[in-house]
Amino acid sequence: MSDQHGTIESHPLQQPEGVETFPPADAFRAQANVNDPGVYWRAAEDPEAYWAERARQLAWSKPFTEILDWSNPPFAKWFQDGELNVAANCLDRHVAAGLGERVAIHFEGEPGDTRTITYAELTHEVKRAANMLTSLGVSAGDRVAIYMPMIPETVVAMLAVARLGAAHSVVFGGFSAESLRARIDDAQAELVITADGGYRKGRVSALKPTVDDALALGGGGSSVRRVLVVERGGNEIAWTEGRDLWWHEEITAFDGDHSPQGFPAENPLFILYTSGTTGKPKGILHTSGGYLTQAAATHRDVFDLKPETDVYWCTADIGWITGHSYVVYGPLANGATQVMYEGTPETPDWGRWWSIIQKYGVSIFYTAPTAIRACMKVGRQVPEQYDLSSIRVLGSVGEPINPEAWRWYREVIGAGTAPIVDTWWQTETGAIMISPLPGLTTLKPGSAQVPQPGISATVVSEEGEPVGNGQGGLLVVQRPWPSMVRTIWGDDQRFIDTYWAKFGDRYFAGDGARLDEDGDVWLLGRVDDVMNVSGHRLSTAEIESALVEHHAVAESAVVGADDETTGQAVVAFVILKSQQTLLDAEDPDAAEAALKKHVAAQIGAIARPRQIFIVAELPKTRSGKIMRRLLKDAAEGKEIGDTTTLADTMVMQTISDRVRAER
Ligand code: PRX
Repeated sequence: MSDQHGTIESHPLQQPEGVETFPPADAFRAQANVNDPGVYWRAAEDPEAYWAERARQLAWSKPFTEILDWSNPPFAKWFQDGELNVAANCLDRHVAAGLGERVAIHFEGEPGDTRTITYAELTHEVKRAANMLTSLGVSAGDRVAIYMPMIPETVVAMLAVARLGAAHSVVFGGFSAESLRARIDDAQAELVITADGGYRKGRVSALKPTVDDALALGGGGSSVRRVLVVERGGNEIAWTEGRDLWWHEEITAFDGDHSPQGFPAENPLFILYTSGTTGKPKGILHTSGGYLTQAAATHRDVFDLKPETDVYWCTADIGWITGHSYVVYGPLANGATQVMYEGTPETPDWGRWWSIIQKYGVSIFYTAPTAIRACMKVGRQVPEQYDLSSIRVLGSVGEPINPEAWRWYREVIGAGTAPIVDTWWQTETGAIMISPLPGLTTLKPGSAQVPQPGISATVVSEEGEPVGNGQGGLLVVQRPWPSMVRTIWGDDQRFIDTYWAKFGDRYFAGDGARLDEDGDVWLLGRVDDVMNVSGHRLSTAEIESALVEHHAVAESAVVGADDETTGQAVVAFVILKSQQTLLDAEDPDAAEAALKKHVAAQIGAIARPRQIFIVAELPKTRSGKIMRRLLKDAAEGKEIGDTTTLADTMVMQTISDRVRAER
């Protein structure tokens, strides 16, 4: 259906012009955690020794003696004879070091309720929850699905699962019942932890009913035995006796005595599903020791974290990898104090984020370009009403940040002085791979710039040859890294085919990139059929299969079209069945609305197409392959590219006329 591996040809290589640079301020450099440029070459000389040193900053119940086992590529094992407890590294270790009274989480609920949770309190709650989960039969090796709002119990649930050596599979709360069920089935989760609902955009958004629907699909019969429900929204919910349990009722029976057991470094920590080039999401498996090492090390270095004084805030939802690595594991392993906010940036108004920064004195702020562009649209007069002088480091993640947004971010949020770290990484990489280091790197707006110490990434041609400075190609990681994906859950072959088949023992990231004259990396977007909408990863194939599941749809093609605010937007082209009666092709607006709703119900609101065009034919090659590249040109209002390989060259003319008529 889709290209398994993209090609460079399908990709526009833009040459940035007249790049302005921003060296670190002397005062910042002087105080930075990393300010010796020698770190890069020392790590490059012996990356394994470098990572072993970083790993030893964690607490191991059994120290490792072996660093990397790459004897069976691409299946890496890091620190494999060592044992540790990931949750104890994030909690008990800090309490034992006398830091129990330090605030771990400043929680801000969307309606305005707040909670301050110290490391001692968080540790206590996780221990109780671990005891509760044990009583529910959770033990090492099991999988627990988590479908929750952004509240402290979500962190408690994840850490309690990790503490027992089980693996969590967090499913973003915006996903539909179908998506949730597919993830539960794939991981064979026996327990689901959810909430009645959470607050979003000023109202309660229900979650438990979606779990009920998910478990009822296909006549029930899932792997799930219990559903543990946190009370948050206070919304009315249905109850299945014998299956459903209230968290607050169950937990009262358990105290805070719980000794953490050490588990092997390669024990699974979590599965996180992400979109690939086919319709079926991939269960990205991360394990314990290597993952935590790189999440913690990069969190400290890239954000220049000073746990004693900084207040850190990452706005990502825990349902994504950024939430896993830079809300939960990285910051807590480092003993950071952080803000956790439940709701959306515009509730009750666009001043909300800035008021939170002012209130808690946030000093490190990490968000996505799409959010920055949305705030730019609203205007600088909003953040200018707040005191943001506590900010000293800004981060960006999820998609390339356009230089205009970069400058606005630095000027308006960072007082014209805060370094911006543009961090490139993926669900699969587990932690930051390419990013400036704020005390060392002369910043270039729009470029993620340098592989982290100990990381070897570069740009190669289709044939796998390094392209050299000033050239574009495909981004690869040349050596295994500690927080790398270990496999696709239950599908080793797909793991090999997706990331390793193209370049042998080098990891193919799926991104196009360019090296500038200084060797800095500029990310140019995906070269496969994966879209990036508001920093969220979506698969064209997944949306296409959702569309053809609608009885009225015969065929569909989906593209990610450039969008000023969301980076890319989903645009679908659909052929209706000739015999269908459900949708009226004569009334395209109604048909479009019905199909948008259908996609949202099938996958989740994030996948809802911006536009759907009902067409009579799709552009295909003589061998029947849909040429999405041409549809993307049309959706973006561009000159249509080369149509000579099409079976019928008129098709594109008709389609682009149709799109133009709507613009
Ligand atoms: O295309 C790259 C883009 O997001 C993809 C990974 O998506 P996901 O696994 O959902 O993880 C997002 C958060 C880490 C990448 O293949 N991407 C991520 N960060 C950047 C980026 N593109 C350019 N610049 C970035 N800083």
